Amino acid sequence: MTGKPTLAVVGATGAVGVVMLQILSQRADIWGEIRLIASPRSAGRKLAVRGEEIEVVALSEDAFDGVDIALFDVPDEVAAQWAPIAVARGAVVVDNSAAFRLDPEVPLVVPEVNPHAVRTRPRGIVANPNCTTLTMIVALGALHAEFGLRELVVSSYQAVSGAGRAGVDTLRAQLSLVAGTELGTKPGDVRRAVGEDTGPFPDPVALNVVPWAGSLRQDGWSSEEMKVRDESRKILGLPQLPVAVTCVRVPVITTHSLTVHARFQGEVTVDGAREILATAPGVVLCDDPAAGEFPTPADVVGTDPTWVGRLRRALDDPTALELFVCGDNLRKGAALNTAQIAELVAADFC
Ligand SMILES: NC(=O)c1ccc[n+]([C@@H]2O[C@H](COP(=O)([O-])OP(=O)(O)OC[C@H]3O[C@@H](n4cnc5c(N)ncnc54)[C@H](OP(=O)(O)O)[C@@H]3O)[C@@H](O)[C@H]2O)c1
Repeated sequence: MTGKPTLAVVGATGAVGVVMLQILSQRADIWGEIRLIASPRSAGRKLAVRGEEIEVVALSEDAFDGVDIALFDVPDEVAAQWAPIAVARGAVVVDNSAAFRLDPEVPLVVPEVNPHAVRTRPRGIVANPNCTTLTMIVALGALHAEFGLRELVVSSYQAVSGAGRAGVDTLRAQLSLVAGTELGTKPGDVRRAVGEDTGPFPDPVALNVVPWAGSLRQDGWSSEEMKVRDESRKILGLPQLPVAVTCVRVPVITTHSLTVHARFQGEVTVDGAREILATAPGVVLCDDPAAGEFPTPADVVGTDPTWVGRLRRALDDPTALELFVCGDNLRKGAALNTAQIAELVAADFC
């Protein structure tokens, strides 16, 4: 083909879609037309991208006419139905949902870790990992390349925007109910103030932490925990990697944080790990506890890199490191990684 590729953003009005439009406006402009697609509810709305107001069109087969690459930022079931339709209409799909991530015929790509995988896409679909996996995988990919990863133990502190617009609306509404009160001092007082409707979360999230994300899977594990395990294995090409994960929701709007215990093939040193992380593309080392310096969501939100702090060698295992990572779940955790994948795919069109 000649000229710049045509891009469609499906789900342009959602939590991820809105950030996608910002990212497309900020990165090198390699695109020809950018088409915005959402549900019929949003058809006719105008959204700004690259400084231009563009009208949102309803999802339909015809909406993919002439589209070279389609970014899908929609619920799993919508992506499962419509991504193959977009492919049949001639587009390469980069999908942000969980619908195709574990399909052996769909590569799961993080450009800093396994960019080569993007080229083998027999179904015409490339999958974007989930936001919790993406929060840690760039830093872990760099450490794995040098030290050889053998085991992961992870706990997450996940922001409410990981549950989409509904998650953000829920926390903001709950915060306005509890602000300026003495709530949080008696059993159940926050729950009574918030009421029955806790949005996409099983418990109140304001003034609380909720040890749950996603839906129930076998033996008490959550879907989010299984995603981190399965997707980390696939991206790193380590199908037997032992991975134990506990996912926890915290009252943060955007930016996931994770504590990670990573065990490697042989002995590791903090200095060696620092050197790797300090030069790894997409990673910022922010680690000076004596000066009170470590990453927190309040500072990391709105930025692109994976931020790493609290780097220590495990006290009882010279082959293991402990670290704390933070990353914006709507940027690198979703829209940015998708845009980076699309740029890799677009390189083949030129
Ligand atoms: N939030 C995160 O941190 C995150 C991170 C990684 C991946 N993801 C994944 O990215 C996808 C989008 O998540 P989100 O958080 O942006 O969700 P969201 O805020 O709920 O937005 C959903 C988007 O999908 C559109 N949509 C819903 N049903 C549709 C239909 N039947 N036809 C066409 N469009 C439809 C919505 O359009 P309307 O506005 O018209 O309803 C909206 O644009 C999900 O698969 C999610 O799992 C999210």
